[in-house]
Amino acid sequence: MSGTHKNTLLQVSGLSIGFSQYMKGTQKRIVRPISGLHVDIGEGEIVAVVGASGSGKSLLAHAVLGILPGNAICSGSIVYKGEELTQTRKEQLRGREIAFIPQSVNYLDPLMSVGRQVRIGLDRATAKAQQEKLFAQYGLKKSDGRLLPFELSGGMLRRVLFATSVREGVKLVIADEPTPGIHPQALSEILKQLKQFAENGAGVMLITHDIMSALEIADRVAVIKDGATVEISEVSAFTGKGEALKTEYTQRLWRTLPQNDFDLEFQEEGGRATWR
Ligand SMILES: Nc1ncnc2c1ncn2[C@@H]1O[C@H](COP(=O)(O)OP(=O)(O)OP(=O)(O)O)[C@@H](O)[C@H]1O
Ligand SMILES: [Mg+2]
Repeated sequence: MSGTHKNTLLQVSGLSIGFSQYMKGTQKRIVRPISGLHVDIGEGEIVAVVGASGSGKSLLAHAVLGILPGNAICSGSIVYKGEELTQTRKEQLRGREIAFIPQSVNYLDPLMSVGRQVRIGLDRATAKAQQEKLFAQYGLKKSDGRLLPFELSGGMLRRVLFATSVREGVKLVIADEPTPGIHPQALSEILKQLKQFAENGAGVMLITHDIMSALEIADRVAVIKDGATVEISEVSAFTGKGEALKTEYTQRLWRTLPQNDFDLEFQEEGGRATWR
């Protein structure tokens, strides 16, 4: 926890997630993609969660939200505002105090106009006006509100997803890859909005492959590898050749970024691919 943030909002420790799978016949086995993962987020703090594809970032988000699939076996502790976050509490808070910006646009209802989807959870009397304001804020046209998800581009849908999460009283925002396919202006709007959440006292978990954008707004960065936390460092450590970073793994990831001349040796080992 960084010195500037007093109260821990979310504390995930010793998180393990396994799935029971049926093999050929009736044999069952457990695969365990997450084991020993930890991360904490303070009030008003933005923590970026980065790691290779398949390292377990979305599973972490889904565990906190209580939306893991039925065959998932989850252990460890998730404490929110000092209390264990039970499944019941997760369901009560999701979409209210805990906002989720999912990785996939498939989370939208394919049969409901996007305007109506953004109005869910908004105060009835002002919902339409608020929705239109959100659309304008994210560069969507008023008339787009009447369209169904399949009638919008991927980038537009991502902005719709973001708009569905902006609600009053949000204390924790979990954004899973909120920026791919977003044009630069909307990208800066989304980063600004995430920062705004934090300035209003909410904690933000920003899952992303876009480390450079994350560094613009995050306070700390958690690096996940193969379902475990490798390192959590202050954003200020991501500078120069990464000398201030704690692990060699993170230092090498840092050096693979184009801004840092790439680490050619690491790239040859396939290291660069770990950011994408
Ligand atoms: N329902 C499931 N059953 C079995 N394994 C799963 C299930 N969901 C995810 N996994 C496995 O868990 C691992 C982590 O998946 P996860 O979706 O969290 O990765 P990620 O870090 O979000 O990747 P990406 O950056 O590509 O979104 C992967 O190896 C994935 O195959
Ligand atoms: Mg993911």
